[in-house]
Amino acid sequence: MEKSLRLLNNLSPSQFLAEYWQKKPLLIRQAIPNFKGLLTPDELAGLACEEDVQSRIVKVVDDQWSVDHGPFDEAAFSSLPNTNWSLLVQSVNHHLPEAADLLSQFNFIPHIRLDDLMVSYAPTGGSVGAHVDAYDVFLLQGSGKRRWKINTKADLTLIENAPIAILKHFEAEHEWILEPGDMLYLPPNVAHHGIAEDDTCMTYSIGFRSPKAQELAYAFLEHLQDTTKLTGLYEDPDLTPQRHPAEISAAMVKKVEAILQKITWNVDSVADFLGRYMSEPKPDITFEPQEPISVNDFISLLAESGLQLDLRSQMLFSKDNFYINGESLNVPPIIVNCLQTLADSRKLDTTTYNEQIRQTLAVALHEAYNAGYVQLTNDDLC
Ligand code: SIN
Ligand code: CO
Repeated sequence: MEKSLRLLNNLSPSQFLAEYWQKKPLLIRQAIPNFKGLLTPDELAGLACEEDVQSRIVKVVDDQWSVDHGPFDEAAFSSLPNTNWSLLVQSVNHHLPEAADLLSQFNFIPHIRLDDLMVSYAPTGGSVGAHVDAYDVFLLQGSGKRRWKINTKADLTLIENAPIAILKHFEAEHEWILEPGDMLYLPPNVAHHGIAEDDTCMTYSIGFRSPKAQELAYAFLEHLQDTTKLTGLYEDPDLTPQRHPAEISAAMVKKVEAILQKITWNVDSVADFLGRYMSEPKPDITFEPQEPISVNDFISLLAESGLQLDLRSQMLFSKDNFYINGESLNVPPIIVNCLQTLADSRKLDTTTYNEQIRQTLAVALHEAYNAGYVQLTNDDLC
């Protein structure tokens, strides 16, 4: 029997997915009892000052909204007003191991759907306005309190000329104050407005992306461009004189249609596309290659130490095809189970395997290790 989870209001993952996921909001009191957050407002501001971190400060002064993008310098924080602003930091899970651990509690949703963990801080009254997101989101309250107002049938007209999308006529259908450890799940397109109730308010948004159909089509066509190999030339030994030399003949159109119909795909090509495309890092992420080591050295290291994915790495698989950060891995059958564990739990204790498995693992992951996608760990591994 599937376990029910405190995190899901004592529903099992199947019940939550069937009744709420992508369907309707769910308020969960004490989803994570004793959760006080993973970092302080000062630590969040520190992250927002770093070069490789995406952050925003959203302000409203006399009904005029403004947004500044990081990285910020410390002075930007000392010149902020007492209220009516919010600091939002994206992909905190790429920088904080504790944040990646928090996300593992949401493993009942496939990794491919995860976008990131965004953390916000706002002083009393601070808010980013009423809006809708195209994402599913779990809004987990860290320190402080936030008042959430939502509407599942809101008028979606936006304020004109604002730098962020804010609803013009938002009215609350439901309203709650969330305390540390409380969580609100919202499916896409539910209007919501969160207002800080005190000066310690920090909210953790666990966001799940839904790629747009047009984005998938565009990216898949690009993938086909790389994988399609048609041979031969256009040929017309049957050409006959035409009245208008400038006219594209029906005969030519038919022949080219026949050539283009040789572009084909099936479920395997779609799975391969998804593995590569959906594991690609966002454009702002760059990996620092490690000091390169030889395969033999790597084999020895795996006898002493386990492996873990870099916090920014995305590893996916379909059947026995594995993908990491947009690249496919060559995986012999004897290590398929090990790599499934690495992909699912982002870590693998390699020390307990026999020499043959360790060697095969080392060959398969050597390039990924040198590229900085996977790292050694001496941490306790389950
Ligand atoms: C916030 O944390 O202030 C905003 C989160 C959201 O509305 O998605
Ligand atoms: Co939102």
